[in-house]
Amino acid sequence: MDLAQRVKNSIRDIPDYPKKGIIFKDITTLLNDGELFSEVIDYFAKKYENVDFVCGIESRGFIFGAAIAAKIKKGFVPLRKKGKLPYTTIAEKYALEYGFDEIEIHIDAFKDIKNPKVLLVDDLIATGGTAEAAIKLIQKIGGDVVAAAFLIELTFLDGADKIRELGVDVDSLVKY
Ligand code: PRP
Ligand code: MG
Repeated sequence: MDLAQRVKNSIRDIPDYPKKGIIFKDITTLLNDGELFSEVIDYFAKKYENVDFVCGIESRGFIFGAAIAAKIKKGFVPLRKKGKLPYTTIAEKYALEYGFDEIEIHIDAFKDIKNPKVLLVDDLIATGGTAEAAIKLIQKIGGDVVAAAFLIELTFLDGADKIRELGVDVDSLVKY
């Protein structure tokens, strides 16, 4: 069975979470499978071994992003929810179903490297609002986002189109 199908089989559906009518994709069952988790990391690491940095979005993007970065021996840059990063940051707002949220990045995250090649990683893309904000932040501090990689893409929400409109490749391992 191919990797995408095995990943699909390992993800647990939680009906009516966090609210009625939503089927939550629970990745903890995948993380519990050490062999499969490691295969997923290797899959992305091999494709993006030439980037300069891996950026991960808090919080589930940290799990995959940090593991990929360590595997290819490149720096990991956390994009965090507002108020969590200690040094000077820039912030970007993005829309939620009700209201908005905000993520931040350290202004010196890419050190002195001019125009570094960056891989953006998150566990899932839904509306694409989170990833769009992340890409804007990375670009504002000089990063060149070569791809946005996701374990899961919810295709019916068209988030990937939003990201492609920014000129960034979308690479999702499994699609629903
Ligand atoms: C989820 C998911 C993505 C984001 C995708 O994170 O992990 O980061 O939503 O949604 P979007 O494409 O519609 O923007 P969430 O904000 O629930 O936080 P978490 O990762 O900390 O659980
Ligand atoms: Mg998230």
